[in-house]
Amino acid sequence: MIKPEYLRCEYLINPLGIDVVNPRLSWIVQSEERDQIQTAYQIVVSSSKDLSEKEQGNLWDTGKVSSDQTCHIKYEGKTLKSQMNCYWKVKVWDKEDQASEYSQIAYWSMGLLSPADWKAKWIGLPPRKEKRPIRQLIPKRKYLPSPLIRHSFKIEGKIKRATLYSTALGEYELYLNGKRVGDRYFQPEWTDYNKRVQYQTYDITNSLKKGENVIGGILGDGWYRGRLGTFGILHDYYGVNLRLLVQIYVEREDGQIQQIYSGSDWKIWEEGPIRESDHFRGEVYDTQKELPGWDSSGFDDSGWNLVNVDNSIKANLVAHMNEPIRIVKEITPIEVTEPKKGEFIFNLGQNIAGWVKIRINKDIVDAKATIKLRHGEILKEDGRLYTSNLRLVNATDKYIIDKPVKRELCPHFTYHGFQYVEVTGLKKGTKPDLDFMTGHVIASDSPVVGSFESSDVSLNQLWKNIIWTQRDNMISVPTDCPQRGERMGWMGDNTAFCQTAIFNMDMSAFYSKWIKDIRDAQEEEGNYPDFVPYPGSKLYRFLNYYCAPGWADCGVILPWTLYLNYGDKELLEGHYNSAKKYIEYIHSRNPDLLWVEGIGNEYGDWLNGDEFKLDDFPKKGSAIPIEVFATIYFANSTSLLAKMAKILGKSEDFKHYSDLSKKIKERFNQEFVSENGTVEGDNQATYALTLFHDLVSGDLRSKLVQKMVKAIESLDFRISTGFMTTLPLMISLAQSGNCDIAYKLLFSRRVPSWFYMIDQGATTMWERWDGYVKGRGVQSKTMNSFNHFAIGSIGEWLYRVILGINFDEKNPGYKHIIIRPKSGEPLKWVNGSYNSIHGEIGVSWQKDEDNFNLKISIPTNTSATLYLPTKHKDNIRESNTPINEIETIEFIKVENNNTIIKIKSGIYHFKL
Ligand code: BGC
Repeated sequence: MIKPEYLRCEYLINPLGIDVVNPRLSWIVQSEERDQIQTAYQIVVSSSKDLSEKEQGNLWDTGKVSSDQTCHIKYEGKTLKSQMNCYWKVKVWDKEDQASEYSQIAYWSMGLLSPADWKAKWIGLPPRKEKRPIRQLIPKRKYLPSPLIRHSFKIEGKIKRATLYSTALGEYELYLNGKRVGDRYFQPEWTDYNKRVQYQTYDITNSLKKGENVIGGILGDGWYRGRLGTFGILHDYYGVNLRLLVQIYVEREDGQIQQIYSGSDWKIWEEGPIRESDHFRGEVYDTQKELPGWDSSGFDDSGWNLVNVDNSIKANLVAHMNEPIRIVKEITPIEVTEPKKGEFIFNLGQNIAGWVKIRINKDIVDAKATIKLRHGEILKEDGRLYTSNLRLVNATDKYIIDKPVKRELCPHFTYHGFQYVEVTGLKKGTKPDLDFMTGHVIASDSPVVGSFESSDVSLNQLWKNIIWTQRDNMISVPTDCPQRGERMGWMGDNTAFCQTAIFNMDMSAFYSKWIKDIRDAQEEEGNYPDFVPYPGSKLYRFLNYYCAPGWADCGVILPWTLYLNYGDKELLEGHYNSAKKYIEYIHSRNPDLLWVEGIGNEYGDWLNGDEFKLDDFPKKGSAIPIEVFATIYFANSTSLLAKMAKILGKSEDFKHYSDLSKKIKERFNQEFVSENGTVEGDNQATYALTLFHDLVSGDLRSKLVQKMVKAIESLDFRISTGFMTTLPLMISLAQSGNCDIAYKLLFSRRVPSWFYMIDQGATTMWERWDGYVKGRGVQSKTMNSFNHFAIGSIGEWLYRVILGINFDEKNPGYKHIIIRPKSGEPLKWVNGSYNSIHGEIGVSWQKDEDNFNLKISIPTNTSATLYLPTKHKDNIRESNTPINEIETIEFIKVENNNTIIKIKSGIYHFKL
């Protein structure tokens, strides 16, 4: 018996306001039994809940379809129109042709599909007229208050259903009858607003009432007008005028439709309580400027101005289809200290991205006081806040308190990366307790899908630190860090980390959005920038933030990785031409097939051993020569393009690009590899990357492996790799019979090592291996983040090697799974899982002197190839039975001390 669960539409649970006209539907099938499969399904899509309850698919009824497919089933029913509601459910048949019950009802609704559907007008203050270029270079600017917008309207009858469509240039919050609409932050999120602006859809049925209703809006600077960029010096980049767009659609019980649009009769107040708001700078909030009741009925707005209607905006409005930014966790501080009189330091015990909510009352705050909160990641020796690594970021929130009544306060349009908060401005002689504040962690709310637990406390902490770093940096785009004046979607960091990210959280919707951002940022000629979105400017062209090897290649590597993990062919289809254009761009500049021309920034293996400031570490010799590095990426991206072409049935392209990638490899070998296996560079990083991307074959491979091992030994088992080669090193060791060395590196406690960071109290991953060293102090003042995910790419190793969960390229999306766990000293046991698009894959093993016990769980409707680490196949037992007596296990072969078997879905307990 099987049953369908976890219904999703375009990767999202019950999404509102989508704009895909043939959305793809997915579910997971569950069964208690082994070897269960889905043999058929029936999807029913109805235009109302009632019809859905009666299984009347007036929009689409597939009938019984013989298929084992559970993901990406394209809706092919009646044409979907703007604002339609679609309720759907599915039933499935198992291998005995037994039908399940119907699933619970899921739904999606359509957004506004055509520009003509938008009747609302963009509204805001009268336009400001500054000149742009100067504003872009100098961060000295006057910060402006957030305007309040208000409109009151009447609903004449009983409400059946009400939907709100809205967006802004800038960021916005909406209030209906005094209550905040939804729980999202920083909407409409970050895209290149000149290319795409996302709109949001809210179900507001329960927020409206018969009679008078009031909608209120607040606008903040956000990415649109606030500070931005690698040094945090751009501002007003996308525009200077904040604008709001709102459209409300009310269906009444009496069948009438009422629509409310933002327009010239809406009112605006320029001097609201949010006096300044900026992601980098922080927020200033003046309670003296509050207007109680401004967002409810009964408020006198006769002193307010009418809004300015801006007809000049030609935004391309698209539906918001990634998980929104929300408060995903709340944190209570663990300690408060007072290193200087009246200056309190709160320690949250965790490095986070977000802000703190404070609680004030008359006992700790005077009337007319200004409470100032500064944020930082670490403390100075004297226990005071350290902020030098924030660059030009103030990260300061200020509250001007009129009357210190008991209340809570938190910012609206800013966020900080921090573990410590410095508080000043409290009543003299008072000392706040821990519950003076609560940390609000914000992140794009992608579900956590991975788990990892082992016998080693530091390893468990490492996994947690990686998850935290991911959470802190997935804020609409995958940023490099949440604290300093940077916070950009650096491509190379994602080349290194995307697979780890996918194991940890469901990144399908998040990355699908970012892939669009990547295409938006691609230049006409085909090259990709180093970060996305790419706020380009003359300043940036001069710095040449385009086409850095390994960074630009994320534009090919990421879609391929998404395909492997989610089996999303449509995503590949949508991206193929872009990837092809990129390869053509590199090829046209490098007809000799070594990537030596058209290289942008030469980051190479960023922050490798040559950057360490450690007395006992060689000053030179750890970096890969840039031509070697670049040519490896050129070969790899070309071969991935060939694979994409094959999957998409583009046979000519497949032949062309697979030949091209072979030729690049040949040239690479001619130019950089000598017969004895030395690769130019001759260090850990070079061998690791060459092996990882398969640039050499045959006997040469083992020669390179030996050299790689020697390079590790010669540094006395200390790692010298940077962002791009650390994971390749660890994977290449594991794949070449040197897993023991990889374990040794992983469990090292000497700097540079992962556990060294943990021993210094890290709760997130550091940007630099030697970000802080005992006795020496911090590495660098200006580039030293303690919340950067690249070196956290080791997460992939935890899943792929320790747990052994691997995708099968031929059956993407874990329809077939390859399980190959590798144990190593000093680990005694491990227990982890990955909740794939086909269901949860679980692995746990436990080792003692005599036995290796392995528990595997394989999702219903999938199968796995399992590598059991023994050549004594006859000794293997599954639940105390020899494996050849078990029907759902097929013996394949014994190879390299492994017994390889194929297993069908279900839970297995092996003893080796
Ligand atoms: C960022 C990185 C990025 C790098 C480019 C840094 O400032 O923080 O993570 O990849 O620049 O080399």
